[in-house]
Amino acid sequence: MPIASRIDEVRSIVRRVRGNGDSVGLVPTMGALHEGHSALLRRARQTDDFVVVSIFVNPTQFGPSDDFEKYPRQLEKDAAVAEELGVDLVFAPTAEEMYSPDSCTYVEVGELTEELCGAFRPGHFRGVATVVSKLFNIVSPDRAYFGQKDYQQLLVIERMIRDLDMPVEIVACPTVREADGLAISSRNEYLTPEQRSAAPAIYQALQKGAEAVRGGASAKEAEAMVAAHIENEPLLELQYARAVDPHTLAEPGSAGPPILLAVAAFAGDTRLIDNIVVEE
Ligand code: PAJ
Repeated sequence: MPIASRIDEVRSIVRRVRGNGDSVGLVPTMGALHEGHSALLRRARQTDDFVVVSIFVNPTQFGPSDDFEKYPRQLEKDAAVAEELGVDLVFAPTAEEMYSPDSCTYVEVGELTEELCGAFRPGHFRGVATVVSKLFNIVSPDRAYFGQKDYQQLLVIERMIRDLDMPVEIVACPTVREADGLAISSRNEYLTPEQRSAAPAIYQALQKGAEAVRGGASAKEAEAMVAAHIENEPLLELQYARAVDPHTLAEPGSAGPPILLAVAAFAGDTRLIDNIVVEE
């Protein structure tokens, strides 16, 4: 399995693959591959003839106080995981390969990026939309696979490809969880044992909120319930708990499902996010 660090290498490999009439699937990641990523890669392996995983800790989506420097980097281990899963190509560029020093073009997705995480992480989704557009231009995949764990990111990418007529099909994959419900994330490895024990309260809170919505609670009532459950856990500090329309991320237009319940909370310096969609 080749590991390419240069854009022209990827282009020439993909050109050859396409020449054979094979389909190309892309799984964009920042590495530190875990079971959540593996689920995306397995799904891609089932669907596409040629599977590419990109591994790039994208500087433009990190804010000044974010964890860019300490974000886990482990290319060798990741390549072994990719190989094991039958991935055909790893694309692991340097920041210099991806961004020229005078790079000044960005992809800005409108209102959707102002809600939820966007309200607390200015510029984050601009960085995500920009790097994902670049990856699509480099790999030209037929399909790209994203996890519902990052629900807002998925929605932003779906809107971007629709608005800019990008010829890529987005495949949404369900959130993979630990046995106790904690959504798997590369950032979980920052948690102390005490914080790790406290963290499943996030998913428990979401489940309680979802149950309440199904039982007829309003969005505001569900939000309060989710917030109270998390605030009850001394090792977690709630950033937001929201119950919104899953398509617009705005206040739900009417009572009842569909509702997206979404949370961001800190365990120490580690920011954890999770969500549940209560379907209609
Ligand atoms: P990263 O956090 O590495 O995640 C890569 C992909 O894996 C995303 O689509 C994310 O939603 C998915 N994923 C992560 N944890 C998951 C879980 N527990 N269950 C299911 N899917 C999961 O998201 C990014 O990287 C970056 O923003 C990126 C899109 C690569 C752009 O830089």
